[in-house]
Order: sequence, then C-alpha cells, then structure tokens
Amino acid sequence: MNTEEKLIKCFKSIEDKIPFNPRIAVVLGSGLGDYASQMKIQKTIRYADIDGFPLSTVEGHKGQFVFGYMDRIPVVMMQGRVHYYEGYDMSDVVLPVRLLKLMGCEFLILTNAAGGINPDFRSGDLMMITDHIASFVPNCLRGKNIDMLGERFPDMSQVYDVQLCEIIRESAEKTEIQIKEGTYIQLSGPSYETPGEVKMCAALGADAVGMSTACEAVAANHMKMRICAISFISNPAAGICSKKLSHEDVQSAARDAQDRFTKLVTQIITEIGLRYCS
Ligand code: HPA
Repeated sequence: MNTEEKLIKCFKSIEDKIPFNPRIAVVLGSGLGDYASQMKIQKTIRYADIDGFPLSTVEGHKGQFVFGYMDRIPVVMMQGRVHYYEGYDMSDVVLPVRLLKLMGCEFLILTNAAGGINPDFRSGDLMMITDHIASFVPNCLRGKNIDMLGERFPDMSQVYDVQLCEIIRESAEKTEIQIKEGTYIQLSGPSYETPGEVKMCAALGADAVGMSTACEAVAANHMKMRICAISFISNPAAGICSKKLSHEDVQSAARDAQDRFTKLVTQIITEIGLRYCS
C-alpha cells in the first residue's frame, strides 16, 4: 500500500467516529499530554484502534486523539506522536498530521520538549519556534507527491505563520508568561546529542534541539495549514551543562512547566478562535 492509500484507509476508518470537524489541532509533546483535560472532552480515539496507524512506543505518550471544545471552538489534540527514531518511515511519522488536515483542521499548534542550545535559555523556558532546520532527517515529502495534499516543491520560506506567531507574543504578554524565540533543529535521535553535535547545531544557528516537530511542520506546510509551535526547554543540551540527560528528567521538567504551558496555550487557542473561528 502506498502512502496515499494508507492515509485514505486510516481516514476512512475514523471518519464515522469523529464527533465534529475540528478547526484547531494541538500536538502535545513529551510530558505535556495532560493538557488535553483542559477541554470539554467529547470523544477519544486511541491510535491502536485505527487501522494501519503507526503506534507510538514512547513512555509518557498516551497515544490517542482527543476531541473536545475550548471556548466552543472544536479542537482535536494528539496525546502522543510518532517519532522517526521509533523506526517508522517519515511518511508514517507525518501520517497523523495529514489526518488532522483531512479531519478539517486549518490551524496546527505543535509542542515538544527540547534541549536548549542558546546560552540565554534556561531549563523551564518556553520557546516559540520561528524557523527550523530539518535537513538532518529524511524529508517527509520524499516519494511520489500526494497531489490532493499539496504541490511537489512547496515553499518553506515561512513555515511558522506570521500572524499566529504574533498571537503567541500577545498571548504571552497577556498571561505574563515569558517566551523566548528561536530556531529548532530536528535530529533523528533516539540518543541525545554529544557536546560536539550540540556545538555543530549552535554553529548552524539552532537555538533548541529535539527529535520531532520539524518534519510535522513540513508536512503541514505542504498542506497549507497555518502552523505555530512552542518548545518547552526541558534541559540544557549536552555540553551546555555537565548534567547527564535522561527521558525521566525531561518528563518531570515538563510537568513543572505545566501551569505556564496550560495558561499560554489556552490563551493562544482563545485568540485563534476569536479571530478566525467565529
Ligand atoms: N536533545 C534532543 N531532544 C530532546 C532534548 C535534548 O537535549 N531534551 C528534550 N528532548
């Protein structure tokens, strides 16, 4: 089965189970999954119950779509995502984001936990992604173009929507939450970086490093979704400080930032709703 057939098969298997056509989608990163409980939940669909869906094997990722309302805005959240390091092809990694578009989502809010490279960043900081470097993982659009989704050679000069970025800045101000800005670099993982690799990423202009998100943004931009993204800086990247990295520490740091993250993302969704979804 090719990528397009797989996508259509997955969509058909959930089409009847979707309670409404969501306008906004939120992908919740490591340790941030609990945010879905902020919604008036209408329905959950477990990835395991979707025929042909790539299953996430990462601890701390629940693996389900959660549909609900926030301020009467129909929203879908992904609790858990699929990562390239789990062994899936890039076309499988971005299949969930493509499904979000087929469900009707126009707006995509991507979140993740990331290592801080920029020396001005501290653990616990939130960073709005203004650009990314995805050149170290295979391009998810490789292979026959899926014409119903987008064009063969999509422009990537402004992946992160200017107006949505402005909404994030204003939301941060309103909620009095500090937000940094920067370029996110996606590496394949699953090992964390060496100090030498982090120096390389810094030299390339990256402010934060992680193992997801950029590929999803490429797939979403191909489909002309309006994208914004927030990294939670869970730790200084390797070599920036001498502490060893662990997934458990990443998750517990994310839980500590839960309150700020919740306030900020809720404000962002409200603003997007007010401006674009009424
Ligand atoms: N590197 C890569 N991915 C990450 C990190 C990191 O330091 N922290 C959280 N996700």
